[in-house]
Amino acid sequence: MLRVSVAASLLIGLLSGCATQHAGTERYQPLMAQGGKDVMWMPTANNLVTEMLEAAQVTSTDVVVDLGAGDGKIPIEAARRFGARAVGIEFNPDLAALARRNAQQAGVSDRVTIVTGDIFQEDFSHATVVTLYLLTQLNIKLKPTLLAMKPGTRIVSNTFAMGSWEPDATILADGEVSGFFWVVPAKVEGTWAFTGFPGWPEAQVRIKQKSQKFDADMVLDQTLSRRIEGHLRGAQISFDFKDDRDQPQTFVGIVSANKIHGTIKQIPGSVVIATKEQ
Ligand SMILES: C[S@@+](CC[C@H](N)C(=O)[O-])C[C@H]1O[C@@H](n2cnc3c(N)ncnc32)[C@H](O)[C@@H]1O
Repeated sequence: MLRVSVAASLLIGLLSGCATQHAGTERYQPLMAQGGKDVMWMPTANNLVTEMLEAAQVTSTDVVVDLGAGDGKIPIEAARRFGARAVGIEFNPDLAALARRNAQQAGVSDRVTIVTGDIFQEDFSHATVVTLYLLTQLNIKLKPTLLAMKPGTRIVSNTFAMGSWEPDATILADGEVSGFFWVVPAKVEGTWAFTGFPGWPEAQVRIKQKSQKFDADMVLDQTLSRRIEGHLRGAQISFDFKDDRDQPQTFVGIVSANKIHGTIKQIPGSVVIATKEQ
């Protein structure tokens, strides 16, 4: 019994960005830290809900999906305050029913859908924003699915990180780091044929990608190659390099499937295009 309560209080400590008030109704009152399929129920604190949705810059054009929706407070706030369409996926049917009632009471049931289901089974690939309050190991389990989403999809997590996928930003609430923010990067791993670099009309760039960062070999001619490091934010790609006169230049572009269109920041009007070779 002691072991159970120690484990419960440890988990409560871990799930630290939580609200202190219950959000149930007379029909069903969930208990703070009650068990869930893969993680217990603990609602995100109201101010952190707002910080998370603001960090993701949610607007009325977004579809926000909360994985493990509990009483529905994140999808409800996404709809009520930010005008988004929102979906909550919740395994516990009583919590899912409570979330639907809460959405109705908040007057947003036309924009909020609560799915009773398992986050590891349901398809949420249509989301433009994904919100999480799970655990690091569950975030890591979701990582391949999240990385396969459309480039530019934003992800916010209360408290828990995502292993080797470094966040693009941290989220502060009451002056403390309380969550993390990621943007799904475009996939650029492979060999690209670039045209338009100053001094080298043609170059090959061999990219090794790690989430939103990459290393690459820029092969400029048969005897000259340069090592570069670059960055992705959704479909936006950028890297610094030195041109044929050893001047620092910055390439910025947009990835769209097997093409990259961009420019050299320091050379107004310059056009650089890349096509994926393999
Ligand atoms: C920590 S609570 C977060 C609730 C809500 N997202 C929030 O931030 O207020 C996690 C929720 O995930 C639910 N859950 C656990 N495993 C799940 C699974 N495999 N599929 C769907 N929901 C799950 C739990 O029932 C619980 O309501």
